Amino acid sequence: MNRLTDPAMSPASPLPPLSGDATQPLYRQVYERFRLGIVQGLLAPGDRIPSARALAQELGVARGTVELAYSLLNAEGYVQSRGQAGTVVAPGLHSLQRVPKAAAAAPSPARIETARGHDVKAQDGGWVLQPESVLPLQMGLPALDAFPRKIWARLGARHLRATQIPGLGYPPPGGLPALRQAIAAYLQMARGIQCLPSQVFVTSGLRSSLLLATQALLVPGQRVWTEDPGYPPTRQLLTHLGLHCVPVPVDGEGLMVHRGLALDEHAKAAVVTPAHQSPLSMSLSLPRRQALLEWASRREAWIVEDDYDGEYRYASRPLPALKSLDRDGRVLYAGTFSKVLIPALRMAYLVVPETQVPRFEQVAQVCGSGAPTLTQEIVASFMAEGHFVRHIQRMRRLYADRRETAVAAFSGILSPHMRIEPQPGGMHLILRMAGHHTDRSLVARMRAGGLYAQALSRWSIDTPPESAVLVSFTNIATAEQAEAHARHILALLPQQP
Ligand SMILES: Cc1ncc(COP(=O)(O)O)c(C=O)c1O
Repeated sequence: MNRLTDPAMSPASPLPPLSGDATQPLYRQVYERFRLGIVQGLLAPGDRIPSARALAQELGVARGTVELAYSLLNAEGYVQSRGQAGTVVAPGLHSLQRVPKAAAAAPSPARIETARGHDVKAQDGGWVLQPESVLPLQMGLPALDAFPRKIWARLGARHLRATQIPGLGYPPPGGLPALRQAIAAYLQMARGIQCLPSQVFVTSGLRSSLLLATQALLVPGQRVWTEDPGYPPTRQLLTHLGLHCVPVPVDGEGLMVHRGLALDEHAKAAVVTPAHQSPLSMSLSLPRRQALLEWASRREAWIVEDDYDGEYRYASRPLPALKSLDRDGRVLYAGTFSKVLIPALRMAYLVVPETQVPRFEQVAQVCGSGAPTLTQEIVASFMAEGHFVRHIQRMRRLYADRRETAVAAFSGILSPHMRIEPQPGGMHLILRMAGHHTDRSLVARMRAGGLYAQALSRWSIDTPPESAVLVSFTNIATAEQAEAHARHILALLPQQP
């Protein structure tokens, strides 16, 4: 099916289904669909249209009906027949308006707004996970210009060619064995985590890992510690699943475990970002790690370790994962390929305690979570052939450079209005605001000006909101770009009274 043969996908004015009882004959109805598609720009000059035989089969009408419609379109100059090469929309129709296909699929004002990086509800964008297009300073993205496309294309082509009939069916619910093995080997080597491949469950992102974990281990109504300030999608998802989030404050050593105990010792789980607290980037100190593990063991609670960017540490070697200290099997380790490869893969994984593997297998089967086979195969080979480790090392050096360049430009141009604190790791900068400006009003101005930023105050629940703006440096390729962005922000700062 395509847009023109499936009425449900048709453009702005929905087309009625083909009907033998309608006032117009069938050939005329087919003709009208194509004519409208061309006029509305869904079909551009030069686009190929299906063969009469294929379309007749798809629509369930006689081939002669479609041929008649095509000959009418041909006679009126909408299409051109090119013999063996098929039929195309007439290349000379330059005056017809071309509608971008993505916009034509759902032309709602909200979609168009978010595509520009704006938010229709809150001026400062509220909590927007990601705009649909890539904007300068956009958080959460790795260096997209440094993605190893050639290697990826080579591995992709190789796997496509080698695919056998069984590989075209459903992948196993927990993920392909080769990928689970490659992840387990990598975690042991790089993050100090000892696990069996069967403990690794491949998912389609952090939220799918959290969904799997909560479906397997928690029931609605239970309470979960979350960091305050902390990553909003985690809170949103847990709340959506009927769990109660208990916001636990963080300080320079990460989650204040004693405050968690005082707030709600009986909570059933905690979701934490120990490597670089999201968004403040400090690491969870060793005494806090021990206190958290002790609480989980004593209360039989679960800890989800969200290790989204643990590999990116610039001041020293990456810290071992919290999971590596977990003697009692209370920690679930959530990793993602979004930061170390690209978010477009939509691939992540969850390492579960050995005792819980049968339970997770059951839930993974029921929930049908997972990732496409071909993507899993490519990632597995990428890891097994050593590209993954090399890529991370290369990115660590690149980010160290880009971060230094961005800090120098931002500090030089934005001081004294803003203070930039270089963190020991992570993929974003925190621009702390001096004076009376609110981070939300600056973010609103930045979004309107085409720059992406997030207001730190939006990440806080109970802790007094700090006024700071979060921006990413990973896609700032040159000092000139960094300076241009800094000057742009300076121009957007509200005038001091
Ligand atoms: C704190 C945190 N955890 C996890 C992720 C990764 O989520 P996903 O795997 O859905 O891309 C992100 C992405 O920005 C993040 O900021």
